Amino acid sequence: MEHQGLKSNFMIFIIAMIAAISGFLFGYDEGIIAGSLHLVVSHFDMTKPQIGIMTSALPFGALVGSMLIGALLASQVLRWISRRWSLMIAAALFFLGAIFAALSPTGIALSLSRFIIGLAIGVAAVTTPLYIAEISPARWRGALVSMYQLAITIGILCAYITNYILVKYNNWQIMFASASIPAFCLIIAIFFLPESPRWLISIGKKPYAKKALTRLRGIKEVDNELDKIEKNVLDENNNPCFPSIRSRKLLPPLTLCVLLFCFQQLSGINVVIYYTPIIFQSLGFKEVSNQILATIGIGALNVCSTILSLFLVDKFGRRNLLLIGFLGTLISLISLSVLNSISIKYTDFLSVTFLTLYIFSFAISLGPIPYILISELFPLKVRHAGMSIASASNWIFNGLIVLTFPLMLHNLGLSIVLSCYAFISLLGLMYTFVYVPETKNFSLEEIEEHILSTKPLRALGRH
Ligand code: BGC
Repeated sequence: MEHQGLKSNFMIFIIAMIAAISGFLFGYDEGIIAGSLHLVVSHFDMTKPQIGIMTSALPFGALVGSMLIGALLASQVLRWISRRWSLMIAAALFFLGAIFAALSPTGIALSLSRFIIGLAIGVAAVTTPLYIAEISPARWRGALVSMYQLAITIGILCAYITNYILVKYNNWQIMFASASIPAFCLIIAIFFLPESPRWLISIGKKPYAKKALTRLRGIKEVDNELDKIEKNVLDENNNPCFPSIRSRKLLPPLTLCVLLFCFQQLSGINVVIYYTPIIFQSLGFKEVSNQILATIGIGALNVCSTILSLFLVDKFGRRNLLLIGFLGTLISLISLSVLNSISIKYTDFLSVTFLTLYIFSFAISLGPIPYILISELFPLKVRHAGMSIASASNWIFNGLIVLTFPLMLHNLGLSIVLSCYAFISLLGLMYTFVYVPETKNFSLEEIEEHILSTKPLRALGRH
């Protein structure tokens, strides 16, 4: 019995890892542009507006992709699109996008390819956490969904390393084409993934759901869990008053998820991810190779801290980690802002220290936790719709911060820009303290019951 349990734990872990390859591709495609931009710009002789269109094609595509997949999955007619097939759509788009980008004959073709990659990211960012949450047992759900974020950070790190290796060959085509390898692996691996038992029950295929759950849990006695899932689905389907995603009842989880992504993005993480070499340059790293190496260091720290969060999130809780994370980003951003405006002896050393604290604080909490909460807080029937709106907000704020940073830097200076991001962290800290519930150790069905009751969302899991 214990042996079977271990086997099933291992199985779930592998399945979550395969699904999370889409997160790897998300991070890889996000990171690869940092090292290839100057090559692409000179190859196609791009003007400033063309560069803007090419870089923003990816977040714009992701925004469209996340809205589109939400609408598709939510429509009653297309309910039959399974979680696995949604993942397959994302994987195919990742593959095609990578090949088209590498073969692009013009700047416009490259922008279109990056739009396709963006669509893939948008679809994957909704589907993967949804699928992982639906197949995971409650006690591990946080850690398993965090694997998606871990995969994003590994993707970013690998992209930085690829940039470092390939930049001397001036070959941007290989940089883009390299993303097709993990995309192809994902396409193949999806054929071996089990379907989500919750989705199977929702389309009335209980025997298949039982098969999938038996495979996932590694034991034959899954009837109890299956009955609970079925009851939950039937209650939803037979209840003509079941709230739609626009109803007041679902406003608290929707607001919470949208705001968490707003805080995640507006506290400046992607300014660090996209502009790390420039930041290191301003911190006194003169050699380009040293700037790229330091950037790889930041990527590695991001990965290691995210691994730590996998161990903490189900023990320490989502809310506690978020409080620590926001406090950490607040302290580090204020310190960096002050250090940037004064001149003391150890400015460089202190700046690197606080940049490290910033990445650490983000990676143990603000990075993974919004993805966990969006996969937990919406009832099954409206889960895809809720997740897709939350995920779209991620891309709106992501685009906003990346587009406004150069302008703000030019007009206000780095110290004030960092103070603005610090202010957002402060708002995040206060918001978490008052409104964020604790979902660790609750099953998705228990969370749903609480959300549909008259109790306030923030009371869940808090004494
Ligand atoms: C964010 C990305 C960010 C990444 C950095 C994710 O949680 O959504 O925008 O680039 O973390 O690790």
